Amino acid sequence: MREKLLQLEKISRQLDPPSGKRDEVRKKIIDYSENFLNRIENINAFNVHENADAGLLTFPINEEPIDVSLALSLLKNHVDTPGLNPASGGHLGYIPGGGIFYSALGDYLADVFNRYAGVYFGGPGAVRMENMLIKWVANVMGYPEDAGGNLTSGGSIANLIAVVCARDASKIKAREFEKAVIYMTKQVHHSVDKAIRIAGLKECIVRHVPMDENFKMKTGELANMIKADKMSRLHPLMIIASAGTTDTGAVDPLDEIAKIATKHELWFHVDAAYGGFFILTEEGKQKLKGIELSDSLAVDPHKGLFLPYGTGVVLVKDKNILNQSHFYQANYMQDSVSASDELSPADLSPELTKHFRGLRMWLPLKLHGVKPFRACLEEKLLLAKYFYAEVKKIGFSVGPPPELSVVTYRYIPKSGNSASFTDLSTKVLTKEEATAAENDFNKRLIEEIQKDGRVFISSTMIDGKFTLRAAILAHRTHLKTVDTLLEMLGEKVRVLEGKYL
Ligand SMILES: Cc1ncc(COP(=O)(O)O)c(C=O)c1O
Repeated sequence: MREKLLQLEKISRQLDPPSGKRDEVRKKIIDYSENFLNRIENINAFNVHENADAGLLTFPINEEPIDVSLALSLLKNHVDTPGLNPASGGHLGYIPGGGIFYSALGDYLADVFNRYAGVYFGGPGAVRMENMLIKWVANVMGYPEDAGGNLTSGGSIANLIAVVCARDASKIKAREFEKAVIYMTKQVHHSVDKAIRIAGLKECIVRHVPMDENFKMKTGELANMIKADKMSRLHPLMIIASAGTTDTGAVDPLDEIAKIATKHELWFHVDAAYGGFFILTEEGKQKLKGIELSDSLAVDPHKGLFLPYGTGVVLVKDKNILNQSHFYQANYMQDSVSASDELSPADLSPELTKHFRGLRMWLPLKLHGVKPFRACLEEKLLLAKYFYAEVKKIGFSVGPPPELSVVTYRYIPKSGNSASFTDLSTKVLTKEEATAAENDFNKRLIEEIQKDGRVFISSTMIDGKFTLRAAILAHRTHLKTVDTLLEMLGEKVRVLEGKYL
């Protein structure tokens, strides 16, 4: 048996490469990443791809190792080149993140030391760091010092945790779910719909509160709906507002909604996954007024603090509610219950073992200080205003002025009748046909932008209209990027109009 053990040990030890080998592999990986970072301003934000990862599939996982150079060339060709490049400042689609460098180093340290961040007993420093970050976010958002919270993998799980807390705090029984009512606008992020379903609340009534012309919740209508539901003996359960919708960046009137929630004793959740960290700026502070009055909120450091993907935050004002919904005392963990004041993340979320996410947030905040984060957010607000004004000048029709850093716009072809690009030039179009033709033009326009690839934008449908978006949030997006997009839009419109005349 000893001989067999020694044989196995020899092979097992391959999992722990010696210093020389670590140097060799690390150097190649650092060279590869530095080469990327040094060229980032000139690398496309998007590369059109077809069946992009077929190459990876020709190298299946098997018993034998491959060399690090081959592994890196596989990554380069099949992972890091095709599709969207979220590290690029040219990423103006969806909601960009960016991925600041010191977070990557934080992840490196978190992974090398592999500190346990789930329970205070095992990782007191790691847990304390996470709790300290939660306190900082609570403070920034105007929540009390002793609010509860958790570093999640992103906004979706943050929303889920909050919805579970709202459900449990209401003490509502499953048999009453079909009489419970949830209020939100149609612009709420779909992760909220998912959270409601996953939390077992799909039988609840979801009331879509009408919005004004700026896509904000109409609070008068909200109040009327709640009153009517109470009269009908329904059970109003919670209001979910957005602090920065994904489509247009709209912020619901949070302080007015808070008053209604308090008056009618409803849980008030704010999805601030995208917009929340703008509160670090003076302008954002004004726009997000009332967020501090919510019962819970979701906010994403992997959006507004430019962290690489994988970090969200949920805050719950009453930490006991968060704790009661998520704690568990397993027999095999009896030694790890501690008398400390520090709550353990494992008792505040569905996760037990978790990635030590705190380090990827703590390290950049400590090494940079908060100042450059604030400046970067202020720059994004201003860039959105600049883009809004300039895109109008080159003939685009625009949505509402940007509340935060999302601009919506579309091009209405000027070549006489909009049918000119659908080969219907002699026919007078109905309103529907004209919209369809305009939609078609904007769809072609975005395809051209994506084929070009220097800047990436995405689109959405607003009231049946194919609408282009510019979401300005990546830390590497600066004036030059926005000018490039304007130039590309002008150029592609000229080509398309010429083509379809
Ligand atoms: C407003 C809003 N809420 C929630 C989410 C979901 O967050 P995540 O993708 O981090 O899970 C997003 C994602 O873009 C969002 O924009």
